[in-house]
Amino acid sequence: MTPLSASPPVHAGEHAAPVADWVRIEDLYTNPYPIYRRLREEAPVAWVPSVGRYLVTRYADCHWIEQDAETFSANEDGSLMKRAMGHSMLRKDDPEHQVDRAAYGPVLRPKAIKETWTAIFEKNAEKYLDAFEAQGSGADLHLGFAAPFAAENLREIMGFRNATKDDMQRWSQTMIDGTGNYADDPEVWAKSAASSAEVDAAIDELVPVLRADPDATLLSAVVGAGLPLEAIRANMKMTIGGGLNEPRDVLGTAAWALLSSPGQLAQVLADPALWATAFEEAVRWVAPIGMYPRQTTREVALGGATLPRGARIGVVLGAANRDPEQFDDPETYNINREKKPHLAFGGGAHFCAGTWVARTSVANVALPRLFERFPQLRLADRPAREGGWVFRGMLELPVAWN
Ligand code: HEM
Repeated sequence: MTPLSASPPVHAGEHAAPVADWVRIEDLYTNPYPIYRRLREEAPVAWVPSVGRYLVTRYADCHWIEQDAETFSANEDGSLMKRAMGHSMLRKDDPEHQVDRAAYGPVLRPKAIKETWTAIFEKNAEKYLDAFEAQGSGADLHLGFAAPFAAENLREIMGFRNATKDDMQRWSQTMIDGTGNYADDPEVWAKSAASSAEVDAAIDELVPVLRADPDATLLSAVVGAGLPLEAIRANMKMTIGGGLNEPRDVLGTAAWALLSSPGQLAQVLADPALWATAFEEAVRWVAPIGMYPRQTTREVALGGATLPRGARIGVVLGAANRDPEQFDDPETYNINREKKPHLAFGGGAHFCAGTWVARTSVANVALPRLFERFPQLRLADRPAREGGWVFRGMLELPVAWN
């Protein structure tokens, strides 16, 4: 990856944030945790030239940012997400944000998940576990089960009856690549724009159908709420980008962690109520969204530094979730740790709208069904690989079952 070219104002006075010029994007991608440890200790709010942001790595500072949306705006200037996907709720502040967000509410709340979506998750778990089992005596759990399961669930919740799970995966990946296209690579923009146009076409085809005959899906809800077409398109694209990778990645991370720790796996198998704990500890341990952006609306003191107005910030959830001030022995996956709040789902106005979808589909359905179906499941000889820092999860998770 290439460093950012555009720099926000850097405060140069007495309380200027330290510059962490030793942070390299390649190292963040491979294993960000040693870097986070050093940043938290030496420079908890640091200007990081390679990523063109002030990175905030302590739990308390990240939590504070989430609670003060007036100072830390989600509506970032020059946002690549806006270019790739349009202006969705995720880049709006209240009150505009709340208009879009309210339209999502009924579809994603626990009642709807219980009444409508759980049966879909169960059907998809069976379908993709059948396909996984048919691969023989071993396969890649990430590509073979987690990815299609998450993609098909999201396709059905969103209501893209005129698309396939493979369309969802391609749209999601290419538009996410657009939002991270700091190198301004024209090929990345072309692929992102092509997906964006395909999503627009799919929405255009469905809007009149859903106006005439509404259903339980997200697309139907935003159409019924009367959101303008541009807002419908942007929110749908953001949700395709933001609702697929994370359940996929927490499923892989949790399975990997449990398979690596037979004692904890035995504990969960003996007490199914612990699937929820295993899930929550997995999103704490490896936050699927490792970093999200904000921009200051005024000069503000944070973590011992003074940030100028207009400063572009990275709220590093992946680091906050391993802050020893908040969690004992934070680098270890431990379902028996003292229960404390983590930040994996964000906080404040933008707290993840899909939290209950993720918890139900992964903790209540996918993980228990997976281990029921394959009582002999184990890690294969080939090592598992994980990667990423803005989004982090398994890249490959080879497993065997007999
Ligand atoms: C383990 C799974 C998930 C994790 C860890 C996660 C994490 C997050 C985080 C950290 C944010 C806030 C980002 C910010 O403030 O900039 C967020 C927002 C959001 N998430 Fe999730 N997410 C997950 C699953 C999902 C799913 C399955 C969906 C859709 C069905 C979804 C839909 C959304 C939406 C619509 C927002 C924007 C909310 C707003 O701006 O008000 N997420 N998510």
